[in-house]
Amino acid sequence: MFDIKKIKADFPIFKASKEATLHYLDSAASSQTPECVISAMDEYYRNFRSNVHRGAYALSEKASESYEGARGIVAEFIGASENEIIFTAGATASANMLAYSFEQSLDLKEGDEIVVSIMEHHAILLPLQELARRKKLNLKYINVDENYRLDYKSVESLITERTKIVGITLASNVTGAINDVSYISQIARKMGALVVVDATAAMGHIPVSVKELDCDAMFFSGHKMCGPTGIGALYINGELGEKLNPSFFGGGIVTDVDLEKAEFVSAPEKFEAGTPNISGAIGMAEAVKYLTEIGLENIKKRTEELTSYTIEKLKEIDGVKIFAEQDVEKNVGIVSFTVEGAHPHDVIEFLGRDNVAVRGGHHCALPFVKALGVPATVRASIYLYNIKEDVDALISSVKKAQEFFKK
Ligand code: ALA
Repeated sequence: MFDIKKIKADFPIFKASKEATLHYLDSAASSQTPECVISAMDEYYRNFRSNVHRGAYALSEKASESYEGARGIVAEFIGASENEIIFTAGATASANMLAYSFEQSLDLKEGDEIVVSIMEHHAILLPLQELARRKKLNLKYINVDENYRLDYKSVESLITERTKIVGITLASNVTGAINDVSYISQIARKMGALVVVDATAAMGHIPVSVKELDCDAMFFSGHKMCGPTGIGALYINGELGEKLNPSFFGGGIVTDVDLEKAEFVSAPEKFEAGTPNISGAIGMAEAVKYLTEIGLENIKKRTEELTSYTIEKLKEIDGVKIFAEQDVEKNVGIVSFTVEGAHPHDVIEFLGRDNVAVRGGHHCALPFVKALGVPATVRASIYLYNIKEDVDALISSVKKAQEFFKK
């Protein structure tokens, strides 16, 4: 059963802000952290802080076990093997690492292609744009249709024998739309292209399996799925992981070093030079356990109800234009909108005064927001701890803002 009272009580932030009720509708930017995640990290710092894989004493062994245990938990969450999970600083770090490794290790020739969608977040778009620029590759885009969904009809002709990499988001952080990545993978496979999935906006909202998506690489951040900031996971499938060179070099990744060169260990360690974010990995794994216990299907159902309610209520306000996937089964809980006569930045500031926390802007997905024909949007994003009253507060504040800016 989905016990919202208990869930809300799991998050200290809602207790801290009880004097002025916090209506937190900005989980797509960063979710809140449950007590169990904070405690797991605290436990590391208080009781077994030490480095991993370096000491033979009890503390270090405990730290190594917890860190590697975290890798196992994250791997299982997405149907991967432990050796396919690399802990990184987050989605942006993962995508940059991957693009750099591709540049060093793949046979990319001038005129080869990278296919991405127009709805990509800058975290994946910019590293791939840079890779395309440096290697003189053609960057091609899957556009969106009038419902802001990917134009699937175009995919078959866009991905060709010259396509080497396809980069695709599992869910848009602007409209919430969940993309049919497996369909795109199928086409990419036929052409021998690698598929890289940005799962950041979807992770912790829907069950995700790398086998079902049939991807070669995938990444996501801890902080959007109830975990800490500064940690993320990069999945690279076993075969590809062996083929790719590391992008960062330093301690902990070698079998031998002499004065001219080094030999590297296997994945995942070869991609984790230096001391990792040990408490972050432990916290991220604890978030996985927390979400798994509640059940991703239950979380999805709950966000669907509130997303549907948000869309319905926003539609009742004249002058509000909605940019969201309206089939809520295919939405991860994100509703972007504009309010006629008021700039999104003014609206979010106004809402902030009513303790309604939302994001405004281009959401680091500028090409997509430009394609929507607006300079920016207000974005409400819903997660497991939200209640109907949060949406009611949003709606009432939007109406007040509209009146205010009319003057
Ligand atoms: N990528 C984050 C967002 O969508 C920060 O807001």
